[in-house]
Amino acid sequence: MNNNPIGIFDSGLGGLSIWKDIQSLLPNEEFYYLADSRHAPYGDKPPEEILRLSIKNTEFLLERNCKLIVVACNTATTNAIAYLRDNYAVPFIGIEPAIKPAALHTKTGKVGVLATKGTLGSSLFHHTASNHAAGITIIDQIGTGLVPLIEAGEATSEASRALLLKYLTPMLDAGVDQIVLGCTHYPFLMPLLEGLLPDHINVLDCGMAVARQTQRVLLEKQLGHTSTEPGLSHFYTNKSPDILNKMLGQLNASGDVKFIDF
Ligand code: DGL
Repeated sequence: MNNNPIGIFDSGLGGLSIWKDIQSLLPNEEFYYLADSRHAPYGDKPPEEILRLSIKNTEFLLERNCKLIVVACNTATTNAIAYLRDNYAVPFIGIEPAIKPAALHTKTGKVGVLATKGTLGSSLFHHTASNHAAGITIIDQIGTGLVPLIEAGEATSEASRALLLKYLTPMLDAGVDQIVLGCTHYPFLMPLLEGLLPDHINVLDCGMAVARQTQRVLLEKQLGHTSTEPGLSHFYTNKSPDILNKMLGQLNASGDVKFIDF
């Protein structure tokens, strides 16, 4: 057993949706969450820059003795997790667009994927799509502009609604019945998505799957916390503690939020 904290990082606030799912499954664990909002969005950056930032975030969490690291960012996972696994001793849990369950559930044979340029352009994404969605038509769309709006605390604004309408209309016109949210920021768009999408469309994200995988790895490696008390969650941001607090509020959660010059 190991009472050190679990580390989680994202380019910013999106990974809070993942933290919430992990924390609700593993309430006795302690968490360090790093929001690298100053460098968001990662999705438009070249792969070597995404890797450099992912290394920096990993070292920040390792300096705080994290026993396992969740890369709560599709863009960082698809571009950096292989390197991180090869170069650091702790286990890493990543997140990738939920193409496999979407391909299993679709009745129309058409799946929409909304994600960043960095994720859709990665070789890991193409590998997963050809392995798990052969014969399925994928209509992918880069969500340009969505991450900056969510980072500004404007996930449910008119500007976000207008962008979503523009991005989803071609998917709906093509007949998709599954829409994969391939960026951890996008679950914060659910209130808008519920209003924009017809009832028969299934929206998929990976939060609970990542939480269950984290639980499995802790068990397998005997890294679970021994406490029966609720664990603390510490949040670090290099941009706005106010917006981070606001996003936690949207998740009906709270924690110890600190600014860090990082
Ligand atoms: N939340 C991240 C993801 O899942 C990154 C978005 C970004 O910074 O562009 O892809």
